[in-house]
Amino acid sequence: MNKLVINSYAKLNLYLEVLNRRKDGYHNLKTIFERIDLADKIILSLRPDKIIRVSSNSKQIPSDQRNLAYRAALILQESLHLEKGVEIKIVKNIPVGSGMGGGSSNAASTLLGLNKLWKLKLSRKQLVNFARKLGSDVPFFIYNCPFALGRDRGEVVRPIRPLDRHKFWHLLVVPRSFVSTSKIYREWDRAKKGQRVRLTRVNSNVKILTLSLRNKDLLGVGKRLFNSLEEITFPLYPGLVRIKRKLRNLGLPAVLMSGSGSAIFAISRSRKEARSVYAKLKKQKTARVFLTRTC
Ligand code: C5P
Repeated sequence: MNKLVINSYAKLNLYLEVLNRRKDGYHNLKTIFERIDLADKIILSLRPDKIIRVSSNSKQIPSDQRNLAYRAALILQESLHLEKGVEIKIVKNIPVGSGMGGGSSNAASTLLGLNKLWKLKLSRKQLVNFARKLGSDVPFFIYNCPFALGRDRGEVVRPIRPLDRHKFWHLLVVPRSFVSTSKIYREWDRAKKGQRVRLTRVNSNVKILTLSLRNKDLLGVGKRLFNSLEEITFPLYPGLVRIKRKLRNLGLPAVLMSGSGSAIFAISRSRKEARSVYAKLKKQKTARVFLTRTC
């Protein structure tokens, strides 16, 4: 085997509670990840030399060491002292800077793919250890599961097994604006400075949300979806509030921003409903619209 083609899926955060700022500058979180079928394609080809080369159809992502897929290959090469190279081609479909973890997913796919292509035989635990060094959202994509709970930086992951077989339809609206995650966390620090840190909202929130998801109770889900970063991102990008309102006005009760933005997603009751709203939203030209599903 000298070539591999991998689907590199996106994620949504159905719940994202920022708890506090840590000494290392990151933030402790409590989050629920969901994997969706919107995906990039990663094509890995063996090289006869030691070179790692990244190329992409998208001009929005770097092809050097700033690219997380590049860093994934490099961390394996350096840590394991490998004399192996790889050509990494990234076909981008996941919008960049949208809070859907495209770069993190590409890094995880590269780790998983190189484990096979370079015949490394690394265990999931070892892969997760590399993943957490690359970024907070990377470990989630190493677990082959549709829903998971994330803690600490988001990198401590536990699959939510009761939701394994659940599938939801989603509408995604992604404005053209690119949101920088580190900027949003800096703004969160500024906004929360001097405020007493409440260690957690209501401890049972994640449990109730999980239960509502299990029961497909979208009104209940709509009440429990939560993202601490909306109050930071929305004032900076007021267009996002209008998108959220529009989705609600179209009859969708469960709408939220993913990650630090800019993607706004809605959960739909059925494929039929999702398709009808998709057709309506498609007519507007200002934002990109996607119809996607849990995977
Ligand atoms: O971990 P990752 O590199 O994906 O995070 C991007 C940026 O988001 C970090 O540099 C940091 O500023 C911020 N971040 C954070 N706390 C987290 C996750 C991300 O402050 N738990």
